[in-house]
Amino acid sequence: MVKRDEHQSVTLQTQNIRMKYGKGQMSKEVLGGLSISIADGEFVSIVGPSGSGKTTLFQIIGGLERPTEGEIWIDGKQTTGERGHISYMPQQSSLLPWQTVAGNIELSLTISGIDKKLAKARTKEWLERIGLQEYADSYPHVLSGGMQQRVSFLRALLAPQRLMLLDEPFGALDALTRQQMQQWLMSIWELNRRSVLLVTHSIEEALFLSDRIIVLSPSPAVVLEEFQVPFERPRHESLWTDPRFYAMKQRIYDLLKTGAKEGNV
Ligand SMILES: Nc1ncnc2c1ncn2[C@@H]1O[C@H](COP(=O)(O)OP(=O)(O)O)[C@@H](O)[C@H]1O
Ligand SMILES: [Mg+2]
Repeated sequence: MVKRDEHQSVTLQTQNIRMKYGKGQMSKEVLGGLSISIADGEFVSIVGPSGSGKTTLFQIIGGLERPTEGEIWIDGKQTTGERGHISYMPQQSSLLPWQTVAGNIELSLTISGIDKKLAKARTKEWLERIGLQEYADSYPHVLSGGMQQRVSFLRALLAPQRLMLLDEPFGALDALTRQQMQQWLMSIWELNRRSVLLVTHSIEEALFLSDRIIVLSPSPAVVLEEFQVPFERPRHESLWTDPRFYAMKQRIYDLLKTGAKEGNV
């Protein structure tokens, strides 16, 4: 058996990330020294109070912002402040309204350096796989919110970067669509395991989808605790009523509550 280099199997490491906005008296520390890591092919969720700096952390990982302190390592290379190393799916669909559904996916593939013909073939194949082939030539506005997020997720999934950042991707969907999307995302992710870092408000969503959950304190955010999620894959809806699921949900909820109290002192 080939022994893998330890560095190679780690997709992301954030080392002691601190972020301060503003100067002097007006300055505000948002991230208080965050160190997290994601192994290759691992699905990790971050839950934390709103305003704790989750989106800020994503912007730093994606190179849109430079941290005040600390380093970002992706695939064994230091990438602090550099763009282009991750694929990203925002909360609201960011599909281009003047491009067709297929065009949106093809465009992002060709921008990331994939040959046009191959991009076309991959797009067609995947649109069939997610059941949206009949919408290939439609414009995004005719799709429902859930369908738009499917296309948006597919676009992130097909990008060549190993690491996907999903920032509350289902936040704008109604509860039922949201649950359907979680199942859908799970099944598609299992076909093509990428390293994922997901931000979510929902403890259930994190439990259902992830291998590991990182709980953040209020800002300046630090890691309060990490939880390994023990449920075997593939996961099914029945998990929602599993007593172990409920027990973990309660533990994380209590932790968020206590963390929030301490943060308020
Ligand atoms: N560019 C910025 N300048 C100043 N403050 C910012 C900036 N971006 C975010 N913040 C502040 O940082 C804190 C965390 O924001 P954010 O990362 O969006 O939190 P979350 O995504 O966890 O809700 C908030 O108080 C927000 O006002
Ligand atoms: Mg946010």
